[in-house]
Amino acid sequence: MSDDGYDFVVVANRLPVDFSVAEDGTTSWTTSPGGLVTALEPVMQAHSGAWVGWSGSPDLDHEPFDADGVRLVPVALSATEVELYYEGFSNDTLWPLYHDVIEPPAYHRQWWDAYRKVNARFAAAAAAQAAPGAIVWVQDYQLQLVPALLRELRPDVRIGFFNHIPFPSLEIFAQLPWRAQVIRGLLGADLIGFQRASDAANFVRSVRRFTDLTTRGEVITVTDDDGGRRYVRAAAFPISIDSEHFDNLARSPAVKARALEIREELGNPEVMLLGVDRLDYTKGIRHRVKAFGELLQDGRLTVPEVTLVQVASPSRENVGAYQQLREDVELLVGRINGEYGHLGKAPIHYFHHSYPAEEMAALYLAADVMLVTALRDGMNLVAKEYVAARSDERGVLVLSEFTGAADELAGSVLINPHDIDGMKDRIVLAVEMDYREQRKRMRRLRRRVLEDDVEKWSQTFLAVLSAVPAHHLPAHQP
Ligand code: F6P
Repeated sequence: MSDDGYDFVVVANRLPVDFSVAEDGTTSWTTSPGGLVTALEPVMQAHSGAWVGWSGSPDLDHEPFDADGVRLVPVALSATEVELYYEGFSNDTLWPLYHDVIEPPAYHRQWWDAYRKVNARFAAAAAAQAAPGAIVWVQDYQLQLVPALLRELRPDVRIGFFNHIPFPSLEIFAQLPWRAQVIRGLLGADLIGFQRASDAANFVRSVRRFTDLTTRGEVITVTDDDGGRRYVRAAAFPISIDSEHFDNLARSPAVKARALEIREELGNPEVMLLGVDRLDYTKGIRHRVKAFGELLQDGRLTVPEVTLVQVASPSRENVGAYQQLREDVELLVGRINGEYGHLGKAPIHYFHHSYPAEEMAALYLAADVMLVTALRDGMNLVAKEYVAARSDERGVLVLSEFTGAADELAGSVLINPHDIDGMKDRIVLAVEMDYREQRKRMRRLRRRVLEDDVEKWSQTFLAVLSAVPAHHLPAHQP
């Protein structure tokens, strides 16, 4: 922190803290254990950083404060803005659109207006925190207009943007009534990061179609309003997890003991399958449970020899598609348990909760087969967590080819979740895989996940961003 601001500023929809209000109305915060927080913590501390984000509660206006050496700058959202900007435009327009319209996106002009207004507020808050020449790193689809709005306010700062979710193909992105404005918003950045090379390529194609800018490979030449020219790079920087931390956690005696206890509590099945997801329609939970139900019906898997543990953590519960999904999944789970279960022997153990990292590590360690069957996913960090937890080199990762992780995790059993028969065959293959083959695959997976951790991700991104010249080229330069 210098007198005139912070050298490094992160801007994200949420602050890296969990917020709670006591009965007497007083507020308190605890640092949340998310991967992004862990990844950025060393950088934030080394460069004296600030984090601009929403507290997660409507109508909460709070002064900036320090937590673990990081300046936290809350951005207030009214209850109506939460509804229109967060639940509406972010999670009922952009989210389904960017995930290949698995659910139909809704387009409402009122939602777009709120999105613009809230993005402007985030940009102003970031501009107020950044020191001259600072690096500002904007995160994710909720804030795509921030880069351009911030550049207008602060042409001196270097701006990075990272999109944590997929960027859709041109043909799908074309549906968005405000497609050109979103592209212009993103192009305010110097560097735009995506999970996969194909996301970056999709973005560049949309730039070509919806602007008159020229592109060469991953570089876009942008002419600003003042006639100045800038080069914006759009490239892949696949995100990861704090692999070492997860590895250590899963090696701890307490977690190992808990993993054994979990198997026991499940009645010591021969095979434990595991699914861990936010309860989101992109995760392919319906497809996974259907495939499992059919395997029981076909007699290829039997109860109590095999059991499926499905953790579905609550998410975006005010959005209609999420409410419908919960109904569908719970109906299906109930049907399968009713059909194939016996007293104390349920085919599916379903939990609509979130668990702390220790319990997650124990579940991963207990599971013989991890099922990641997303219909579309930017990366899928659960797949990487499972691998990081398996220092015993056992366990099989069944992984959807529609995740970003599939580009990296050779050694997994790849599936197409739309192909129920194909997925059933691959699940059986995973269940029956011998230990030698499991070890061979898991070693390969672990090498990748332990090496390419989240710290490497942020360092790589920030190194490329820092190399961008501090100022754009004035109009008269070649
Ligand atoms: O993966 C995208 C993402 O927005 C993450 O950044 C976030 O942790 C997750 O989805 C949950 O989203 P929300 O903040 O809407 O609960």
